[in-house]
Amino acid sequence: MAARVDGPRGLSPHRNEVAALASLTSPGLPLVSHTMLGGEKIMHQHHRWLSASAFTDNARYADHESQRMDCWAGPDVRWRFAAPCTRRSRVYPTGLASARRSRLKPQHGFYDLAKTRIRTLVFALAAMLTVLSGSGIADDSPCTACHAKQVEAYLETGMGRSLSRSHHRLDASFSHEFSGSRFVVESTARGMLQRVERDGWDSENRVEFVIGSGNHAFGYLVARGRHLFQSPISYYTRRGLWDVAPGYEDNAHPEFERPVTAECVWCHAGRPRPIRGTLNQYGNPSFDAEAISCDRCHGATREHLANPSADTILSPSELPARARDSICEQCHLSGEARILNPNRTFGDFRPGMELEEVFSVYLYEQPSPSSGVPEFKVVSHVEQLAASRCAQVSGDSLWCGTCHDPHGKPDDGSDYYRQKCQGCHTPTALARHPEPLQDCVGCHMPSRRAYDSGHSAFTDHSIARNREEPSRGETLWKLKAWREPQGSLAQRNLGLAYARLAERSHSPQQESEAALRNLVPAMRDFPETDVAIPHALGRMFLLRGRTELATELFEHVVRVEPRNPIWLQSLADGLHASGNFNGAVQALERAIESDPLVESSYRVLAQIYASVDEPGLAAQTWERYLEHTPDSIFARQAKQALESGEPLTAPTSRRPGAP
Ligand code: HEC
Ligand code: HEC
Ligand code: HEC
Ligand code: HEC
Ligand code: HEC
Ligand code: HEC
Ligand code: HEC
Repeated sequence: MAARVDGPRGLSPHRNEVAALASLTSPGLPLVSHTMLGGEKIMHQHHRWLSASAFTDNARYADHESQRMDCWAGPDVRWRFAAPCTRRSRVYPTGLASARRSRLKPQHGFYDLAKTRIRTLVFALAAMLTVLSGSGIADDSPCTACHAKQVEAYLETGMGRSLSRSHHRLDASFSHEFSGSRFVVESTARGMLQRVERDGWDSENRVEFVIGSGNHAFGYLVARGRHLFQSPISYYTRRGLWDVAPGYEDNAHPEFERPVTAECVWCHAGRPRPIRGTLNQYGNPSFDAEAISCDRCHGATREHLANPSADTILSPSELPARARDSICEQCHLSGEARILNPNRTFGDFRPGMELEEVFSVYLYEQPSPSSGVPEFKVVSHVEQLAASRCAQVSGDSLWCGTCHDPHGKPDDGSDYYRQKCQGCHTPTALARHPEPLQDCVGCHMPSRRAYDSGHSAFTDHSIARNREEPSRGETLWKLKAWREPQGSLAQRNLGLAYARLAERSHSPQQESEAALRNLVPAMRDFPETDVAIPHALGRMFLLRGRTELATELFEHVVRVEPRNPIWLQSLADGLHASGNFNGAVQALERAIESDPLVESSYRVLAQIYASVDEPGLAAQTWERYLEHTPDSIFARQAKQALESGEPLTAPTSRRPGAP
């Protein structure tokens, strides 16, 4: 009973609307497939990257204590412990310096005893760990000649070291019980090598880039051709531990196959060069500037370099409030979903624009926004500050730049921030304030645990009168825009945001319904070439068991953009769910042809072959994948198992996100 859709122009909004509303009224439809869009998943996990980095006495991490580990003590001294690493033998490569600055003190008692000794080692290690590469804002910055102070100070900050070539020289190994894997990190003349060993197989990759300054953690990126992938290995600076990267904790087959999307690197690098329309392919070089570069906040610099004056460069604080705030929000406001406007990429944002000209950010609607501190989570400084009475009463005059100088960190934070507070709260106004008044931030902006971690502390930007721990509260699902985009974009983007939530929800009834209610009318306002809408509608119909309608929408999407592997995978999902095996196989073949390095295309294809009792074809599918990724442990195991008729558990769903 699906509505008929004829040809590319055949997506009659009206007829689809009828079908959509019809489906809304049929409750309790079964889920066809529950694939999670990896990009979403990755962002979700990203929060945990930060949280997992702090100190913890959490039992899971305590496991490490009993594991065999290699420990580093300095550039030339390596201690290899047969016995478990003791606290004494741990070092904090760059984290100590920041732990010293922040109020977040390590819980280890040994910290105080060994402070001096460790500090010496730390400086040696820090120097070794944080060498910046030649590109970006290193010593050869064109700005140094005239703004040496800003350039030097900037290089000390997290943003000035956010992404770099791999210059790490550390050896380590650790085990991951869940997957029965052992991970090995080795420095060689070729650079840092990382290896996963499991069931007698191994997969080795050379690290291409290090992501993160190490204030919290280091992540690692590897390259295959022009594709970038994340490593399953991370180093958590403050805990001084190697462990799996966020999102791999309960992965039974951790490997080097999670695509690095443009969204990820637009927040972490200066000038990445993602190839439009691809999932994780980059130009050569992959980055024009690796660490976050001056132009990300000051706009284009060419004119200023040719004709240096205050008028030829953008000063964030001089912009209208919305454009000014957008500069920091482009990276510091991740929200629950960030939805691009039609034909936009994250790289289209330029300082001076309002964020909503390129994308809008959706957050959970809090049950009673006025009644208290919003839920606390990492990368939500923007939301928290907006909830503070300081911001609400002083309006636009308070912004990130009121307290933060992005080019440097204060030596004495307590003193520095007190002056910032007193810029508005004069001593006279504070006459009735209880003593002591010294450390404003220590009392009013404490470090808090983030809810999605359970064991991490970050500075509370809601500047409350009293310290009260925020509660987790009821499960939230309603979304609201951080700022509404113009006109009919509001409905389109909200609908797409709900569709994202639905894909990652375990019971997506409410979310998929909200997505349909917004997307169906939005289809009238946007051209049919805006395939995000029909694609999301298709995914929602698929979730609700309307497989034929979903398939028709995917067919339309693929007619408009025939080479996008994600769209082709969706088409295959639709066809497969409707029982059209040949069609699904063809769609997956096209997905593989357009990008032979997307593991999920092969995985679904092999599953389809296996499900129709064609183990030989399934084994061949993995064989083809191995031509591109010869190291893949899972592909080799799957191929062997299929050839010998043994069962093999499938890896946890790891479908990459849409580009
Ligand atoms: C040849 C010298 C020179 C170079 C190189 C240079 N600048 Fe400037 N810059 C200036 C001068 C002169 C001013 C104006 C200073 C003033 O008015 O106080 C300025 C001002 C600025 C300002 C402040 C504008 C304001 O409103 O106060 C910023 C921001 C800035 N430059 C950024 C940069 C960046 C980023 C680079 C590197 C891409 C750079 N500059 C390279 C000379 C230079
Ligand atoms: C291009 C993305 C991007 C933009 C734009 C951006 N940030 Fe950041 N910021 C980051 C990332 C990523 C980090 C963490 C870097 C790390 O430690 O690896 C960070 C870290 C910080 C930190 C912690 C610094 C430290 O050394 O620990 C502060 C404070 C900060 N940003 C403030 C700002 C302010 C204020 C603005 C706007 C004027 C801004 N940021 C704009 C991405 C960005
Ligand atoms: C919306 C922007 C955004 C996206 C997308 C994003 N990050 Fe982040 N990330 C940040 C910011 C901002 C911080 C620092 C936050 C803070 O200090 O509170 C950070 C911190 C980190 C850190 C810790 C760095 C340190 O030592 O301080 C790592 C590692 C990291 N991110 C990896 C990733 C990876 C890998 C991806 C992509 C899969 C990703 N992030 C996607 C904004 C982003
Ligand atoms: C994360 C955002 C961000 C980045 C990255 C950044 N700046 Fe700035 N810059 C600011 C802000 C905010 C101000 C404060 C003045 C304003 O807002 O107008 C500022 C001010 C300046 C000024 C004016 C003098 C001063 O210190 O107030 C200069 C010069 C400058 N920046 C140069 C640079 C250079 C050179 C780089 C790259 C090495 C750079 N900035 C990177 C945000 C940034
Ligand atoms: C841009 C000006 C500005 C800055 C900077 C500023 N505040 Fe405020 N703050 C205000 C205003 C305005 C109010 C509301 C006063 C009122 O309610 O009459 C306020 C209220 C407060 C309150 C009362 C909160 C409540 O829930 O009643 C506290 C506590 C506070 N500020 C602390 C700080 C601290 C600590 C700093 C520095 C880290 C700071 N403020 C920086 C403007 C500012
Ligand atoms: C009223 C002052 C104030 C304002 C305004 C402010 N911050 Fe902060 N911020 C702080 C303090 C204090 C710290 C803790 C610094 C430390 O411990 O060294 C901090 C720390 C941070 C950090 C490091 C991670 C953490 O949570 O400790 C980031 C990132 C950051 N701020 C981003 C932002 C962004 C983005 C904005 C604008 C939305 C902003 N801040 C506005 C005072 C402020
Ligand atoms: C020792 C902890 C502590 C320190 C340090 C501290 N405060 Fe407070 N502050 C409080 C408490 C507790 C209250 C609530 C008092 C009440 O509700 O009667 C408060 C109330 C306030 C208020 C709202 C009431 C008022 O007097 O207007 C402001 C604004 C404020 N503080 C700002 C500051 C600033 C600015 C500093 C630094 C110069 C500072 N505080 C230092 C604990 C502290």
